[in-house]
Amino acid sequence: MPVIAVIGAQWGDEGKGKIIDLLAEKVNMVARFSGGNNAGHTVVNPYGEFAMHLVPSGIFYRHVTCVVGNGVVIDPAVLLEEIDQLKKRGVEVDKLFISDRAHLIMPYHILLDGLEEEARGGGAIGTTRKGIGPCYMDKVGRLGIRTGDLLQRDTFRDRLRSVLDYKNRILTRVYEAQPLSLEEIYDKYCRYGEQLAPFLRETDLMVEQALERGEMVLLEGAQGTMLDIDFGTYPYVTSTATMIGGACSGVGLSPVRIDRIYGVFKAYATRVGSGPMPTELFDDTAGLIRERAHEYGTTTGRPRRCGWFDAVVTRFSARVNGFCGACLTRLDILDTLPSIKICTGYRLNGEALTRPPSNSALLAKCEPLYEELDGWQTDISRLRHLEDLPPQARSYVRRLEELTDCPINIISVGPRREQTIVVKAIL
Ligand code: GDP
Ligand code: IMO
Ligand code: MG
Repeated sequence: MPVIAVIGAQWGDEGKGKIIDLLAEKVNMVARFSGGNNAGHTVVNPYGEFAMHLVPSGIFYRHVTCVVGNGVVIDPAVLLEEIDQLKKRGVEVDKLFISDRAHLIMPYHILLDGLEEEARGGGAIGTTRKGIGPCYMDKVGRLGIRTGDLLQRDTFRDRLRSVLDYKNRILTRVYEAQPLSLEEIYDKYCRYGEQLAPFLRETDLMVEQALERGEMVLLEGAQGTMLDIDFGTYPYVTSTATMIGGACSGVGLSPVRIDRIYGVFKAYATRVGSGPMPTELFDDTAGLIRERAHEYGTTTGRPRRCGWFDAVVTRFSARVNGFCGACLTRLDILDTLPSIKICTGYRLNGEALTRPPSNSALLAKCEPLYEELDGWQTDISRLRHLEDLPPQARSYVRRLEELTDCPINIISVGPRREQTIVVKAIL
């Protein structure tokens, strides 16, 4: 039975939550492998509408085991609140498990995320200020505290004391902020530890055992390839490997176990926060898309920057991740437009480019080269078969496939599960 991964191909918010909730029906396990509550995955299903930040979007099926892998960073307050809300709304969480190796977001991470952003001034990244970057910095800097550490109270206290001593020196001496109290954090996190204990497991072993039983595992990507720490628009990126490589280290899975990798493409482009976005629009079309699609961040409420589909970006994503297919979301959002542009290449200093330059300053200077297609100007949100799509919409989809060099398996025409056209089944 296969392991299948679903990865964001653009700058996040491609509609991964909808796709995971749709595909999860046919799997046994869904695992998150990277990021934290910077993610906001919207799921609309018979239970209602949910913004999932840490709990995998497969939680709505009784038969699905959900794993938050070691590569995820966890703000315990957010996770416990999310679990609580799910339970209140009738969603069972008894098959949710959290890696005991996952790093914890501590109060100083959240504080430092804000202070570092302020210090960057005009060069701010536009982070979600959830403490993600500082937490991963501590993980790599070997200053992190992990979920499992909370269960060993004596050693946790000693560890927290030494880390906090260092963090307080940074807070007070570099940022002239108030120091944090060891006792307060210790008590609070010990309580979190008690509440999290029933969920904590060696989740890599659970994944391994699921595969030994011949079960199907779905890997739920967070953020998007252009936010990847290595291949994204550095430094305007998140602090993790958002691409397929992150899935292996983030759940403890050998790359040879992953059978198929699918990208999620939004039918146009959006981005939250700073950094280059060659196809960004500043005209009425941007406003039209933003309002029609309600393009405001699921996590922070910030308006998302909107622009035309950038096939340079998706072709790059398809190659670096090895997509065998894609899910195209939000095609219905383009319903009202008389014509639609696709970016097919860039021009930089008179030279034509077919892949994004690695340097963000150069990417910011790239002029997008467009191809213009006719719009379909009809409501497609009720259509369920490829043949029923207006010819202009089919041409648009076909052109995206050609330019991206990646077949489209699923076309999403609305936020709900049933608003889906299956071109070629994934499962
Ligand atoms: P994610 O972070 O990749 O899961 O994406 P978000 O949830 O942040 O943003 C995607 C938004 O698009 C959510 O509001 C979804 O409910 C919505 N959505 C997903 N697919 C479709 C679609 O095909 N059509 C429309 N109109 N909305 C969609
Ligand atoms: P999902 O999983 C869109 C962006 C932030 C910022 C940059 C760094 O919902 O697609 P961070 O807080 O991670 O240090 O911020 O990354 N960002 C996202 N943008 N969707 C996301 O997640 C994002 N997660 C982080 O806006 O530009
Ligand atoms: Mg999102």
